[in-house]
Amino acid sequence: MIRDIQRRIIELKEEKDICILAHSYQAKEIVEVADITGDSYKLSVEAAKVKNRNILLCGVHFMAETAKMLSPDKHVFLANSLAGCPMAEQMEPEMIKAIKAEDPERKVVCYINTTAALKEVCDVCVTSSSAVKIVKNMDADKILFIPDCNLGSFVQKACPDKDIKLLQGGCPTHAKITKAELDEAKRLHPNALVLVHPECRPEVTQGADYAGSTSGIMDFAAKSDAKEFIIGTEISIAEHLQYRFPEKDFYVLSKELICPNMKITTLMDVYKSCEGIGNGGAFEIEMTDEQIAKAKVCIDEMIRLGG
Ligand code: 13P
Ligand code: SF4
Repeated sequence: MIRDIQRRIIELKEEKDICILAHSYQAKEIVEVADITGDSYKLSVEAAKVKNRNILLCGVHFMAETAKMLSPDKHVFLANSLAGCPMAEQMEPEMIKAIKAEDPERKVVCYINTTAALKEVCDVCVTSSSAVKIVKNMDADKILFIPDCNLGSFVQKACPDKDIKLLQGGCPTHAKITKAELDEAKRLHPNALVLVHPECRPEVTQGADYAGSTSGIMDFAAKSDAKEFIIGTEISIAEHLQYRFPEKDFYVLSKELICPNMKITTLMDVYKSCEGIGNGGAFEIEMTDEQIAKAKVCIDEMIRLGG
């Protein structure tokens, strides 16, 4: 059954000139039909290079919006219209404008997990894999980092020369993980290396052997000679790694590490979206030229400073 649906998706991709971009948090059966899979940074860089007329994004809304900004001439669709990221909606543009008005020297760095409307009022965008490099490369000492205070605190530690102000925001999935859970996972698997995402709380990140983006975690596990790993990010990453490296053992740091927003997209959504492209049956990202031009400034800065 799964293979039949996958075969039909592959035919539809060909017939309708569709490129499927899937975030690495997507399920295995979706990753298998994707043309490009990766973390937020890879997806945004690759979105700009797509040659197909249509892009189908399997992930959350801000990722499809970013793809649209980078490929404005393409039709960009989100496989499940309800897939949003709660962190992306935590801060209002007006609030950031008010902070900027009080402290105009402070440059605003936003995580890519933000709406296009919020990106419009920010100076540069970052992803988890590029945040430290970009903040170091910025020609500014005073920074406001939004919305994730955990990623922000990770960047603060890596850039002690910069004055980085944080606000209270973050990923509900990663921030749920406690130091007690980390200690328990280490007790159960004393020989395992701990690899975590910097969206986790500082006490969890500091207790890990490695902290980095989705791709950073996957690359670390691929290159390491270690045989056991505790994975502190969305549960699908431990699963993908286990399929890729059956000779190694991957344990999830916590069974709570499931992002309901990423998991809402199913293979049937991908199939139905492919069916619906071209006849009004798929969820298309609509943005005006003005919205794209304003929000894209900080994405272009991300690519310039992080490249
Ligand atoms: P990265 O893809 O940048 O690692 O971020 C993980 C995430 O939470 C995506 O929403
Ligand atoms: Fe948003 Fe967190 Fe889910 Fe990523 S894992 S999409 S940051 S809620």
